[in-house]
Amino acid sequence: MKGKTHGKICMKAVVVENYDSIDRIAIKEIDAPGLAAGEVRVRIGAAAVGFVDGLKVQGLYQTKDPLPFVPGTEFAGTVDAVADNVGAFKPGMPVIGMARSGALAEYIAVPSAALQKLPPQVSFEAGASFQANYLTGLYALDARAALRQGEILLVLGAAGGVGIAAVQIGKLMGARVIAAASTAEKRDFAVRYGADQTIDYTKADWRDTLKELTGGYGPDVIYDPVGGDVSLQAFRSIAWRGRHLVVGFASGTIPALAFNLPLLKGGALLGVDLAQIQKREPETHTRLMAQLFDWLASEKLQPVVGKVVPFENFREAFKTMQSRSALGKMIVKFG
Ligand SMILES: NC(=O)c1ccc[n+]([C@@H]2O[C@H](COP(=O)([O-])OP(=O)(O)OC[C@H]3O[C@@H](n4cnc5c(N)ncnc54)[C@H](OP(=O)(O)O)[C@@H]3O)[C@@H](O)[C@H]2O)c1
Repeated sequence: MKGKTHGKICMKAVVVENYDSIDRIAIKEIDAPGLAAGEVRVRIGAAAVGFVDGLKVQGLYQTKDPLPFVPGTEFAGTVDAVADNVGAFKPGMPVIGMARSGALAEYIAVPSAALQKLPPQVSFEAGASFQANYLTGLYALDARAALRQGEILLVLGAAGGVGIAAVQIGKLMGARVIAAASTAEKRDFAVRYGADQTIDYTKADWRDTLKELTGGYGPDVIYDPVGGDVSLQAFRSIAWRGRHLVVGFASGTIPALAFNLPLLKGGALLGVDLAQIQKREPETHTRLMAQLFDWLASEKLQPVVGKVVPFENFREAFKTMQSRSALGKMIVKFG
């Protein structure tokens, strides 16, 4: 093993021993992960908490992590040690990474392919907020919806983690972005990150407002991480040949769309699953990651960092999100 650490070291980690409410999940002292062939160990500087992490700790996500596990999939930090057969990373390098779990801990070991170099001007907090939400957004808007310059993009849940990323990417792709969110604070937040117009989609007549804002035309593309009745209402307002991106169900309800609606609208429902992009579409994954890191390095795209909480207060990150009050991605900071 190259690097400064040899033998076993201990670390603090959030450990889920039973699927449970976040109040009953604690930080424990456990062995730091060792290195297998091809792996890199990272000392984590910041880790993100997304909606999915909240479901996973409670055992409510569609796939269950075997117990016990350390939650957290996205992180940024410094390379601590590398296995002998890894050439691309050296101790001390700042990196961003994604893993199935393990990021809410002081150290994580991952295959080197799960890491990217962090551009020098990007903070750990911004790095940890970057990959999942922005790759989901770019894959959806580019590879699935083929969003064109000048088209109208409606983003539902626009101030949440994936929503605000779609607002920013939609603007970078030249769309006119309408952000839908439940509070004035959330709508202002979306405007701060580029939304051209906003809608309060908790109002009964929000579709009339959407009609007015689009001159009766409707949105060409709908980015939908919310689900429930709002999805059905949004689809009813879609433009001819519109594309509705199915991203998630933060409302807790999976809507059922009557098939006559896509027929009448000439419209399409398009599924988006971050977890399958790399495996099923490796060339698209490589192209989109290159585009994202180009935007990141040139500062055309600055990841939105929501609330930052110290590691000891990790529960606050989960609770902010679970209470529908998060703006952007929640970040847990180490050290
Ligand atoms: N398809 C993929 O690959 C992929 C990738 C990442 C995430 N996701 C999914 O996308 C969804 C959003 O994730 P996120 O991390 O962006 O979450 P988030 O930051 O909590 O944002 C979700 C947004 O949904 C809206 N919402 C409406 N009803 C809600 C409710 N009952 N509880 C909570 N939020 C509600 C909220 O906006 P308002 O208050 O403005 O309504 C909130 O800002 C989740 O379902 C997640 O699983 C999917």
